[in-house]
Amino acid sequence: MGKMTECGFDKLHDQLRMKLLTAGLETSSNFVLIVDEDRLVWWVNQSFESLTGLSRQDVIGREITSFFSERNDPAVMIEAQNCLAQKREWRGEIIARRSDGSERVDGVAVTPVLDEMSGATYFLVVGRDITDKVRAREAIAAAKAAQGKAEKFFALGTMAAGIAHEINQPLNAIRVLSGGMLYLLSQGEALQAEEFVESLQEIVGQTERIAGITRHLRSFVNKDELRQEPCDLSAAVEMALKLVGKRLADHGVSVQTELQAGLPLVLAVSTGLEEVVINLLVNAMQALDGVDRTDKKIVVRTYFAERVVLEVSDNGPGVDPKLGNTIFESFVSTKKGEDNMGLGLAIVSSIVAACRGTVEMKKNEMAGATFVVKLPGLAAGSEEERE
Ligand SMILES: Nc1ncnc2c1ncn2[C@@H]1O[C@H](COP(=O)(O)OP(=O)(O)OP(=O)(O)O)[C@@H](O)[C@H]1O
Ligand SMILES: [Mg+2]
Repeated sequence: MGKMTECGFDKLHDQLRMKLLTAGLETSSNFVLIVDEDRLVWWVNQSFESLTGLSRQDVIGREITSFFSERNDPAVMIEAQNCLAQKREWRGEIIARRSDGSERVDGVAVTPVLDEMSGATYFLVVGRDITDKVRAREAIAAAKAAQGKAEKFFALGTMAAGIAHEINQPLNAIRVLSGGMLYLLSQGEALQAEEFVESLQEIVGQTERIAGITRHLRSFVNKDELRQEPCDLSAAVEMALKLVGKRLADHGVSVQTELQAGLPLVLAVSTGLEEVVINLLVNAMQALDGVDRTDKKIVVRTYFAERVVLEVSDNGPGVDPKLGNTIFESFVSTKKGEDNMGLGLAIVSSIVAACRGTVEMKKNEMAGATFVVKLPGLAAGSEEERE
């Protein structure tokens, strides 16, 4: 213990202490300047000389701000000035101009030191060139902004394609219905009022469907992004089955469900999740349309295995091996139907990607296709996983 006090730095005589401290500052890899209250430079170390290429003689007596670039943020300059006027420490980034006119960014810490004898304050400025770090930071920010933009454009493009796809069907229905009525009238057929009403009601229903779609589009444009919220995947499956269940039954397809209750919620737009399920169900149904068997079956499962999983399996012919993963691209379709644009799975993948999930296709033990969607689950009772 006694040795400790004997060894104290403050036991050394002033001159030696000065020498050691000066050597420390002199050989520091950080640059060091000492400036007075008028911002005039009194001293710089070797690092400052080698960084700037200026000799000590060139620098002493100059105003420190003469090394600064005009591009410094005025707000930062004022903040620094205020700090120093109040003799408080300041840390920040300064853009400095090199003698060749180029710029560098310095991270600096300015510490006021009071001379009790004269009452004057000097400032110790310690810093280092962080240009590379700042460039990297800016590059990352630019890349992130560009990625955000690209994603938005992608989402818009897919959305537009999806809208065209969705509108096509009711438009066709309207054309067929009104065309039929016109044809009958032109043939001089006497139409019953009820028949008229029925067809017109159907037409109104179809225009409402289109209006619903354009509303959807408008909400997309207004809010920039559809709002995602915590959703229950099993509930989305049930909703989707409500919407297309009858159609599946009409096609002679039986649906078997194994839906797990109380799954972790997933962050999604609920109608988007339903759209995913509907697209997969309709694809399975259409695949089964092409086979000659009496036990046409779709199995829908939801469960949790690290992620929240949806599986839609059918006992159809399976995906044509020639297509492979191209089925997830837009406009890839083997179907002859006018309504089939090859967009269903492209829409599925873009919705799933927006939920930070994955979708893949594999062959199943019934020799048909299974589509597996995996979505990140939210921790129970939290929405914090949102970014
Ligand atoms: N369950 C399935 N079984 C066999 N093939 C499938 C299945 N699902 C999709 N496919 C194949 O993938 C292709 C692309 O599917 P996708 O849903 O993207 O388009 P589509 O169904 O042809 O047209 P749209 O969805 O626009 O009506 C289909 O044309 C089909 O060849
Ligand atoms: Mg489809």
